[in-house]
Amino acid sequence: MSKNIIVTGGAGYIGSHTVVELVKFGFNPIIIDNFSNSSSSAIENIEKICKKKIDFFDLNCIDKLKMNNSINWKKIDGIIHFAALKSVSESFEKKEKYFTNNIESTKILLNICEVYNIKKFVFSSSCTVYGNPNNLPVTEKTELKKPSSPYGETKKICEEMIKTSQIKNFIILRYFNPIGAHESALIGEHPLNIPNNLVPLICECAIGKREKLTIYGNDYPTRDGTCIRDYIHVCDVAQAHVYAFKKMNTKTTRKIFNIGLSKGISVLELINLFEKNNNIKINYEFGKRREGDIEEIFANCSLAEKELNWSPKKTIQKALIDAWRWEQKKLN
Ligand SMILES: NC(=O)c1ccc[n+]([C@@H]2O[C@H](COP(=O)([O-])OP(=O)(O)OC[C@H]3O[C@@H](n4cnc5c(N)ncnc54)[C@H](O)[C@@H]3O)[C@@H](O)[C@H]2O)c1
Repeated sequence: MSKNIIVTGGAGYIGSHTVVELVKFGFNPIIIDNFSNSSSSAIENIEKICKKKIDFFDLNCIDKLKMNNSINWKKIDGIIHFAALKSVSESFEKKEKYFTNNIESTKILLNICEVYNIKKFVFSSSCTVYGNPNNLPVTEKTELKKPSSPYGETKKICEEMIKTSQIKNFIILRYFNPIGAHESALIGEHPLNIPNNLVPLICECAIGKREKLTIYGNDYPTRDGTCIRDYIHVCDVAQAHVYAFKKMNTKTTRKIFNIGLSKGISVLELINLFEKNNNIKINYEFGKRREGDIEEIFANCSLAEKELNWSPKKTIQKALIDAWRWEQKKLN
């Protein structure tokens, strides 16, 4: 069995951490990225962490011809498909672009699997497919409601395409809220435009790049009025992909797993934890609710623990310390 695994979006936030974990566990990741939301320096830094050259292709996953012709697919054992546009707010303004990029890329990769007989596929999905759930925590059996954004819709459509495809093995991972960075502070979350996620925004405030952090809504029916999410260290999310491959290597699997810490934390609680653990004050204000946000979601991840033999090892405190270390280092 070849250990070559194509990692689309491997220069991005979760992809780069996953490439590091794959190398650690003896796989040979090969990155495809068009650097639409990342930079090639991420690959140099992955190489520094792994002390190894990483093969990569500067390719757009929706370019069917180049995707088919640039890679020797016959030598590939599996694919992890991270490459996607991921900003909830931007997806309202650029719905077409999100649908084309996220859905076409998945379609092309599934077709490649069929043509070249690639039997293993891992897909990056999101808790957004649950929409605004009636009951918490959400399990994989929780009914999927209408996603609250076009971004969420693309994930739901891709999941359906994978489930109805001919692919022999697939694992869909529904991430909750990955935060933090690699301990080395060589890789981390590095959006090219204005960050959409909370922790990079907190970090930009802490470092003085941003005067104030706006918390979108403090009138939600939650314990302190702010939204509740399930934050998890990105390295734990990355490891879940290794366990997904280990599972598919031993048993035919066509399954979906939640990947979170199984704890709900409010936006205010997260800010307080950041302040306390990094000994720094964050200047924040309350603003209006943001389109596409739901009040509360957190996961039950016992299925992944039982069937993938995966469990998160790192705390939120550690993730916030790592995120801050990355923020300070990435400017140098
Ligand atoms: N970060 C989160 O909070 C989160 C939560 C749930 C799900 N996800 C999903 O996880 C995946 C990875 O997210 P991330 O946070 O690492 O995002 P990211 O933007 O940091 O990484 C995505 C990478 O894909 C690349 N890319 C995008 N479209 C491409 C294309 N057509 N061809 C080639 N490369 C392309 C980008 O350049 C980037 O390097 C995405 O599918 C995202 O939807 C992320």
